[in-house]
Amino acid sequence: HGTSQVNEQGQLCIGGVEATELVKQFGSPLYVMDEAAIRANCQAYYQGFVASGAGEVIYASKAFMTMAMCRLIESEGLGLDVVSGGELYTAKQAGFPMERVYFHGNNKTDEELALALDYGIGCIVVDNHFEMKRLDKLAGERGVKVPVLLRITPGIDCHTHDFVRTGQIDSKFGFTLPTGQAAEAVGAVLACENLDFLGVHCHIGSQIFELASFQYAAEVMMGFADELRAKFGCTIRVLNLGGGFGIRYTEKDDPADVADYARLVIEAVQQEAQKRNMPVPKLVVEPGRSIVATAGTTLYTVGSIKEITGVRKYVAVDGGMTDNPRPALYGSKYEALLANKANQPNEEVVTITGKCCESGDMLIWDLSLPKVESGDILAVTCTGAYNYAMSMNYNRIGRPAVVFVRDGEGSVVVKRETWEDLVRNDQIPASMLR
Ligand code: LLP
Repeated sequence: HGTSQVNEQGQLCIGGVEATELVKQFGSPLYVMDEAAIRANCQAYYQGFVASGAGEVIYASKAFMTMAMCRLIESEGLGLDVVSGGELYTAKQAGFPMERVYFHGNNKTDEELALALDYGIGCIVVDNHFEMKRLDKLAGERGVKVPVLLRITPGIDCHTHDFVRTGQIDSKFGFTLPTGQAAEAVGAVLACENLDFLGVHCHIGSQIFELASFQYAAEVMMGFADELRAKFGCTIRVLNLGGGFGIRYTEKDDPADVADYARLVIEAVQQEAQKRNMPVPKLVVEPGRSIVATAGTTLYTVGSIKEITGVRKYVAVDGGMTDNPRPALYGSKYEALLANKANQPNEEVVTITGKCCESGDMLIWDLSLPKVESGDILAVTCTGAYNYAMSMNYNRIGRPAVVFVRDGEGSVVVKRETWEDLVRNDQIPASMLR
């Protein structure tokens, strides 16, 4: 169950604090992040990719982004991948070094691009021609030459064993490789006076277990680099292979080691470079989920319990799809335990539902637990990625607080949303004022 432990009293502990204690102190529901676990994940990436000098690791902040997280990432020596003005602004407010930030997105606005340039961003990953033209102009107006990567869609279907190269060309992202669009885009970027073409980027998917997929992506991209050398005489200085490394949500998930992942792709890039007599580019990876997912636990308080005899027992918690939309959105599976009965044997099979007014608001189907009672604390594990980040206010439910726990102490990194927060941006037209 993630990174937590059960103490002698049968209580679930996270970062050295009992879960029930955390709920008493910070309220329910509650996102809890084990700081040491996030740092350990960062360090595994740092060891694998950065320490050897092979490359750079930039945390894909879309997985979980707050100002405290930016500080943590900075202190672990990683860079940051942002995908919106909002993420970029958060990084800036946290004092994150802007030269270590990469800016992604398939439809960046002028306002966002200008903000990035004014901040002195490290690199912009250009997705399309519309963006390329505007960025060149905006950089020119500011008298700067901005480092760029081009996002390439290599056409790799990574969830099959026989990687169909044209299997995934139908994507909203990037310049398509197999159709020749990508090579043509490199010609275009080289002609842009205010863009410094560093290299290429691809991202083949998320929650990937097959390391061979990443190896294959490296090979395809190095082949493309070779093609570019022949066509334009240009050298790829940076190869960014995106994120996507899978994690274990439930027993059936079987992720690889980050160390093996690093070794495999570094070797693949080096071998391809050697084979083609090309310089080895700097390798960049963009892990999101695998940095934070296993470090997060969501604590809920059990409320109403409804049993339909012979059919199902529904156990409702005080959160649901508003704080974790992934089960409703993707059918994602999670594991959970009763934090206050963590050493008791399982006695019943229940379905965990949220409190939203809709039947789709289910968190876990058919979960085995000890005898459940109202007031128990349910801990859903591995919720550190794409939970807080994708949370919402459906039914005008406020977002839970986020707490970092470290050495037996919790610190709030995002305050709980209050009812006042929920009406903060509401306005009543003059005609309706009383
Ligand atoms: N780089 C790029 C360009 C990406 O699009 C993504 C994720 C990442 C890096 C990080 O991938 P990761 O290491 O986290 O797999 N909301 C979905 C996940 C969407 C991922 C989108 N892009 C979910 O909850 O599963």
